[in-house]
Amino acid sequence: IPSLKDVFADDFLIGTAFSNSELLTEADRKLLAKHFNSVTPGNVLKWDSTEPREGVFDFSGSDAAVQFALENGQQLRGHTLVWHSQTPDWVFRDASGNLASKELLFQRMKNHINAVMGRYKGQISAWDVVNEVIDASQPDGLRRSSWYQIAGEEFIEKAFLFAREADPDAVLFINDYNTHDSAKSQALYNLVKRLKAKGIPIDGVGHQTHISLYYPTLQEIESSIVKFADLGVETHITELDISVYSSASQRYDTFPEELKQKQAALYKQLFEVFKRHKSLITSVTLWGKDDANTWLRTFPVARNDWPLLFDERLQSKPAYWAIVSIP
Ligand code: XIL
Repeated sequence: IPSLKDVFADDFLIGTAFSNSELLTEADRKLLAKHFNSVTPGNVLKWDSTEPREGVFDFSGSDAAVQFALENGQQLRGHTLVWHSQTPDWVFRDASGNLASKELLFQRMKNHINAVMGRYKGQISAWDVVNEVIDASQPDGLRRSSWYQIAGEEFIEKAFLFAREADPDAVLFINDYNTHDSAKSQALYNLVKRLKAKGIPIDGVGHQTHISLYYPTLQEIESSIVKFADLGVETHITELDISVYSSASQRYDTFPEELKQKQAALYKQLFEVFKRHKSLITSVTLWGKDDANTWLRTFPVARNDWPLLFDERLQSKPAYWAIVSIP
């Protein structure tokens, strides 16, 4: 069967997230190596993995993930440096347990970014420097995270400045979900524009693209991608998956045949959009390779879901055949 990276060689990098547990099985390793020329470690580069206690770094998981990618000649997306989730609480506290000062927070941020990016300098080519900082319902468009509570918008500026310093050759991304929603897209656009006007070194916008068979529309996706063209940033699709559900209360025991075909058709149309904008989009990453290894089987609730290109037995799904058959 055709390899995805060959099929899209003239278009963009094709990537997947993976967990280190997938490296234990020969069949998983083979599939990862065959189809993808980019990979994103799904959890092991997050703060709670790399620096669980202040100044105590654990690179065992990330070293294994990076080594696998390098052995297979794959590019790496580093995910992620500054996020409100999967980040230990000590980051935001002082010795008495009160909210840390801005100075202390920035010192910790700098130390963390230097250590993590520094370790993989020249190996991880793109980094999600900040993740999920947008909240379109706020007047300034920014999520009221602990980062924001302590430092306001400045935490985003500092994250990019520290990241550029730590590895000047890495391509630096801001990454978020629901970026195809017009209000959120506008808030993200406004932020990137503000940051660029200030000379903050931001190189790219990552659209997570956790979507479903029902939402958003292809037009919404296309216009949200095109929107960023005039800011001179690279576009990555960073966490693509297509859930078969439209609400958290639905549940199917098996994948309905009709939805299988619907998903294939949507994957095809989506990749046609991506190809049409290959001058903007330099990388498309799926958030997992196969349906046994999708985060959507635990989030938002524990249930079956079938969002990816390969099934639980690593066989190509109709969605796979649909995208490889795009002329
Ligand atoms: C998810 C991982 O896939 C899960 O294993 C983990 O339990 C939670 O995080 N947006 C992101 C990713 O930016 O880091 C998330 O990854 C999925 C949503």
